[in-house]
Amino acid sequence: MDQAEILSRTEELVRQELSGDASGHDWWHIDRVRVLANRLGREEGANLFIVELAALLHDIADWKFHDGDTEVGPRTAAVWLEKNGVDREVVRHVCDIVRTLSFKGAAVPTPMATIEGKVVQDADRLDAIGAIGIARTFAYGGAQGQPMYDPDKAPRENAEFDTYQRSDSSTVNHFHEKLFLLKDRMNTESARRLAAGRHSYMKSFLDRFLNEWEGES
Ligand code: NI
Repeated sequence: MDQAEILSRTEELVRQELSGDASGHDWWHIDRVRVLANRLGREEGANLFIVELAALLHDIADWKFHDGDTEVGPRTAAVWLEKNGVDREVVRHVCDIVRTLSFKGAAVPTPMATIEGKVVQDADRLDAIGAIGIARTFAYGGAQGQPMYDPDKAPRENAEFDTYQRSDSSTVNHFHEKLFLLKDRMNTESARRLAAGRHSYMKSFLDRFLNEWEGES
């Protein structure tokens, strides 16, 4: 099977599995990450077949309940890729990326070993910021029953990246606790450039939000 065919079969699988997902990891998130990762990968000279496979499969662990089992994602990816006759080395590489991305514990940083992993991680983080990031954050907060803002609840300084509970906070606090930290966590120069624009857009959005809240603009 050629690479284009493997990619289109994988896309079909992911579309099927994710239809109806409401956790913020729906098909269109995967699609945006795939497009961004391809762009970054081209700019950084990465292997685009590996980049696109890993982008398509990167949230595979979130499809199922897995009790924090970080092997579910890479295992599912490996079974799928082997079934489709993908090269052993490519399977290993893609699964390493999925495993590292699946691990969401904050105490341990998740450094990516290869340029392919770096651009997929960057693309996933870029999709959490900017206009899309704002929309996803409010949509997710609403789905969790979280208030969009509560002036009596200050953001927690030094909240553990990714591990804090959002339930007793507000969506606006999530900007301070996570989204504003992401621009300094990009791996590649190409992603840092995009992150800068998305970051300043979020900053001005939040400034305006708070001004309107106070009746000042
Ligand atoms: Ni993702």
